[in-house]
Amino acid sequence: MDLSGKKIVLAVTGSIAAYKTPELVRQMIKAGAEVKVITTPAAEKFVSPLSLATVSKNPLYSNVSDGAAWNNHVEMGRWADAMVIAPCSANTLAKMANGLCDTLVNAVYLSAICPVFVAPAMDEDMWLHQSTRNNIQKIRSYGNHIIPVAHGELASGLIGEGRMAEPADIVNYLADFFSKQGARPLKGKKALVTAGPTYERIDPVRFIGNFSSGKMGVAVAEALADKGAEVTLVLGPTSLQVFHANVNVVAVESAEQMYEACSSVFAQADIAVLAAAVADYRPEQVADEKIKKQGDTLDIRLAKNRDILASLGSVKNAGQTLVGFALETTNELENAKGKLEAKNADMIVLNSLKDEGAGFGHDTNKITLISRNGHRALPLQSKQEAAAAIVNYIVELQHAEKTV
Ligand code: CTP
Repeated sequence: MDLSGKKIVLAVTGSIAAYKTPELVRQMIKAGAEVKVITTPAAEKFVSPLSLATVSKNPLYSNVSDGAAWNNHVEMGRWADAMVIAPCSANTLAKMANGLCDTLVNAVYLSAICPVFVAPAMDEDMWLHQSTRNNIQKIRSYGNHIIPVAHGELASGLIGEGRMAEPADIVNYLADFFSKQGARPLKGKKALVTAGPTYERIDPVRFIGNFSSGKMGVAVAEALADKGAEVTLVLGPTSLQVFHANVNVVAVESAEQMYEACSSVFAQADIAVLAAAVADYRPEQVADEKIKKQGDTLDIRLAKNRDILASLGSVKNAGQTLVGFALETTNELENAKGKLEAKNADMIVLNSLKDEGAGFGHDTNKITLISRNGHRALPLQSKQEAAAAIVNYIVELQHAEKTV
């Protein structure tokens, strides 16, 4: 059971199982984690805040504001490597399913950009009620991880399903998740990545291109390889060098060449991340000789290039995870979600040109990850950090698919 260096926000809600949480905190800390505890007001009827603050060695928070001080739920949601809601009452579960935000726990949940683990606890009849079933399905569809309930004696005195998993089982579940994520969870997987610009020839010495540096896509290829994947990187013209042992570079120039290279690799790929800035159009005719200077204007007629992402989306099978990028300037979220559907992708990485330090040529990026489970806005960070976040999200998507 290893949770070394992991930062955990433990949210305790109003259920009799809350009496086990000081022991849960103790075991998390013993496994190497740092733990901050938050509670709903109802939880404090079942467990002493002083006990939780003492064992966690951190102050305990239960309100969005304590008198004049505001407890920054966004900061807490971003600090954590994992948020664990244990025990999760039927009431908190219902609020999570519907996005309610009347407690600090719900505010931190809605702000969390880390994986969220839920250990439900309730009486069997409540657990089996159709509304609880629906709520569990809903929060699972948002990408949350449900730690299975145990069978045994319940607070009502009845024997049945609905007991919170034992503290040791919760710690084991987390340790297992992190070991799969932290180690090489993509070992044995094949990935296809596109990066860089494309050059569309006008004549032997001129082309239409764009300012993409290829840095973001190359960082994604390396992050996938770091996690154990065998990566084919289809790379447009760039001066970047790629030396990673598990990254095989296929150099291409034009959108057509990129399309051909991707089409031949995709069927074997488990993951495809299309980060290239592909030219939407190419000159309809490529002149054989250098075009001589003539009149005051020159018309070049352009023909549409095939959309690689949409084309891979149309043949994608259920086991494949397809990720596209979107660079938007207006109605960003809406447009990016539109691309997710239109191109049948599993995730869109949204770049906004409005953000300082983000986009073409910079070493930093500010991205939002969008999937059918919702979206996760990340802070401005290095392209390497952004790439690691993209890859972690891919691992989560694949993990969630298996456990649903
Ligand atoms: N893409 C692609 N092939 C193309 C054009 C784009 O694979 N011919 C991919 C990009 O690599 C990126 C995603 O599609 O992952 C989004 O590209 P973008 O240019 O932002 O969107 P478009 O669909 O071209 O729409 P528009 O330019 O109108 O926003």
